[in-house]
Amino acid sequence: MKKLLATVLALAVLLFSNFAPAADFGLKKKRPKPNEFGNVVINNFSSKQNQAPVVFKHWLHRARYTCRLCHVDIGFAMQPGGTMIHEDDNRNGLYCGSCHNGKEAFAPEATSLTGKKVSNCLRCHSQGKEVDFQVDFYEFQKKMPRERFGNGIDWLKAEEDKLITLKDYLEGVSIKRSKIPEPGEFGLKPTEKNMPEIIFSHTKHAKWNGCELCHPEIFPVKRGEQPYTMQELFAGKYCGLCHDSVAFPNLDCQRCHTKLVY
Ligand code: HEC
Ligand code: HEC
Ligand code: HEC
Ligand code: HEC
Ligand code: HEC
Ligand code: HEC
Repeated sequence: MKKLLATVLALAVLLFSNFAPAADFGLKKKRPKPNEFGNVVINNFSSKQNQAPVVFKHWLHRARYTCRLCHVDIGFAMQPGGTMIHEDDNRNGLYCGSCHNGKEAFAPEATSLTGKKVSNCLRCHSQGKEVDFQVDFYEFQKKMPRERFGNGIDWLKAEEDKLITLKDYLEGVSIKRSKIPEPGEFGLKPTEKNMPEIIFSHTKHAKWNGCELCHPEIFPVKRGEQPYTMQELFAGKYCGLCHDSVAFPNLDCQRCHTKLVY
């Protein structure tokens, strides 16, 4: 009986997830500007306490750290607002405060060279405010190899050419562990025979994401165990969890469907 209930539930979830995206058809989505692509607004508590909502910029942080460091070692959820960060957590060295402590990055308050108190609240609580940011997107982008969509930056090439170096370890937060070898590259076959096959590179993904960002929550470690469709990727699941919000977007068909067809 329990098993039957579970099957019915699973079916219901499946049906629901297949129908849900249909609501998105018939309209063009807004397309974020390159400097806004990957930005996350965090506002569980700020507005209620008369602070502007926090804007977190992936482009700035991913140019310095691996995804793994933040989403595994520090423990940020991969969902806007999902972590339920409090200012107190930050002040006690968790979440944003793992770095924004005056050592790794600026603290909420600082003292200038002339001994004046400087408040950095607005640099994080920035939505809807005029803020003089210290790190400028367009200055940064000029030095980077270009791509068509997303941030307009070829992040893989930037890393390969050593234009950016990624920290994967944070003293006092990360724990040393041995490496697991990548299982190698393989092809993913679309069910539609006219679509070119995808070469999936574990090596390239593991560089940024480690193993834990994908396994076991997004993908099983046995190939073909959990079938999924392109429509589900467009709805932000599986590959689409990263490839629309932070990594290059689903719009860039040919960057995934690369294998030449003759
Ligand atoms: C400096 C830390 C940091 C780094 C580095 C980082 N992230 Fe995030 N990420 C966050 C935070 C913070 C959030 C929002 C969490 C919250 O609001 O609770 C987030 C949210 C996300 C989301 C959900 C976004 C949405 O709009 O749905 C995805 C997907 C994601 N990150 C993927 C990545 C990937 C892929 C990388 C590497 C290319 C990466 N992150 C690098 C901190 C980071
Ligand atoms: C490094 C980024 C950062 C800085 C700097 C920062 N905050 Fe925050 N703060 C956050 C984040 C993230 C949250 C959670 C946002 C939310 O969910 O609404 C938060 C939440 C808050 C909240 C909501 C109450 C709560 O329980 O969390 C208040 C009030 C607040 N901050 C005040 C301040 C003040 C005042 C300063 C400057 C002295 C400051 N913050 C500086 C990141 C920052
Ligand atoms: C792994 C370390 C790390 C974590 C975690 C982290 N940051 Fe940062 N952040 C940095 C570094 C490094 C810089 C750039 C150097 C600096 O300005 O001190 C930076 C810069 C920023 C800036 C740029 C401000 C400007 O003037 O251009 C903002 C805004 C910011 N972080 C917000 C956040 C928020 C909000 C969180 C948490 C949700 C967060 N950061 C978590 C390391 C981190
Ligand atoms: C970007 C996401 C991602 C990352 C990061 C990732 N994997 Fe995978 N992995 C996948 C996908 C997708 C599959 C295939 C799943 C399918 O076909 O259902 C897979 C399959 C596997 C398999 C089965 C291979 C086979 O031939 O059956 C193993 C083993 C595996 N991964 C181990 C790892 C290890 C170890 C790491 C870290 C070094 C890692 N993965 C990092 C996405 C990822
Ligand atoms: C955990 C987040 C995450 C997931 C899940 C994920 N990717 Fe990626 N992927 C990335 C990041 C980060 C990059 C680096 C490029 C960028 O950020 O634009 C990347 C790069 C790529 C590239 C570019 C490789 C190259 O040689 O240029 C391809 C192709 C790709 N992903 C396909 C996939 C496919 C197919 C899946 C699902 C089976 C998938 N990705 C799942 C994060 C992810
Ligand atoms: C992030 C990588 C990625 C991007 C970008 C991408 N695809 Fe796919 N696509 C996949 C994967 C993985 C599958 C295989 C799903 C499966 O197992 O059948 C797939 C399958 C398909 C299929 C076969 C039908 C199905 O649902 O399996 C079609 C058609 C398709 N994609 C069209 C597109 C089009 C059109 C675009 C651009 C608008 C696009 N794809 C962009 C990864 C991607």
